[in-house]
Amino acid sequence: MATFVGAVKRYLSGEAEQRRSIRSILLGPPGAGKGTQAINLKENFGICHLSTGDMLRAIAKEDSPLGKKVANTLSSGELVTDSLVIEIIEANLQSEACKLGFMLDGFPRNLVQAEKLDEYLVGQDEPLNNVVEFKVKDDILVERISGRMIHQSSGRTYHEVFAPPKVEMTDDVTGEPLMKRPDDNPTVLSRRLDIYHEQTAPLISFYEKKGILRSVDAMQSPEKVFEDISVHFKQ
Ligand code: AP5
Repeated sequence: MATFVGAVKRYLSGEAEQRRSIRSILLGPPGAGKGTQAINLKENFGICHLSTGDMLRAIAKEDSPLGKKVANTLSSGELVTDSLVIEIIEANLQSEACKLGFMLDGFPRNLVQAEKLDEYLVGQDEPLNNVVEFKVKDDILVERISGRMIHQSSGRTYHEVFAPPKVEMTDDVTGEPLMKRPDDNPTVLSRRLDIYHEQTAPLISFYEKKGILRSVDAMQSPEKVFEDISVHFKQ
């Protein structure tokens, strides 16, 4: 019934075919290159990029009890509560920026989040249609994370060796300073990887069973990874 009502509403509002043709998730371990690829995908396909990590880092900067709590959780490498991230994602999916489609980065991270997301999207008659798994070996992730620098307001990512900025510790576009993430250190990374394998990796078979999983070798150059992912976004 929800499906029928949703379809009629979109037909009447003239958005029938075009609206949200890409409803995707970028799924992969910390440092797999999800954020790096999301910037190019957003530019090329005009869809929104919702990164729970970026949104939580913004909350962590707020001078409030919630801000402090989130900052502590992020720096420990543990996950924040399911209810907080589900609320953030549902609110953002309704934004104008997501009207042509969306890609979720860092969400869902466990089965509870995946099931809640399905429930929400099916209720909107817009089920997921594309989950891209970034396949990278753990030892490569350590190398990538330890050399990472970020431009906080845009989410642009650099690497000391693989993607250095033109000027040391400076964003190429704005000239603003780059920073290291507090959770990008060997101890916290090890915890983040454990959590990924325990809680997030089971989502690979969850989406495989739904027939919407596409796996990409994310150990290739960023350009080649983009080429391989783009094929799935064009379908
Ligand atoms: P989040 O920000 O989502 O971190 P993450 O998943 O650990 O992923 P990263 O941002 O570390 O990696 P990435 O795949 O984007 O890699 P990148 O492109 O930067 O989450 C942070 C925290 O927030 C979590 O620990 C948790 O506490 C909380 N959180 C977030 N979502 C949550 C949720 N749903 N539920 C509960 N808690 C949540 O690339 C890495 C580096 O490699 C860069 O330096 C880049 O230049 C380089 N690089 C990228 N691609 C390549 C390539 N192909 N070759 C060589 N180098 C490359």
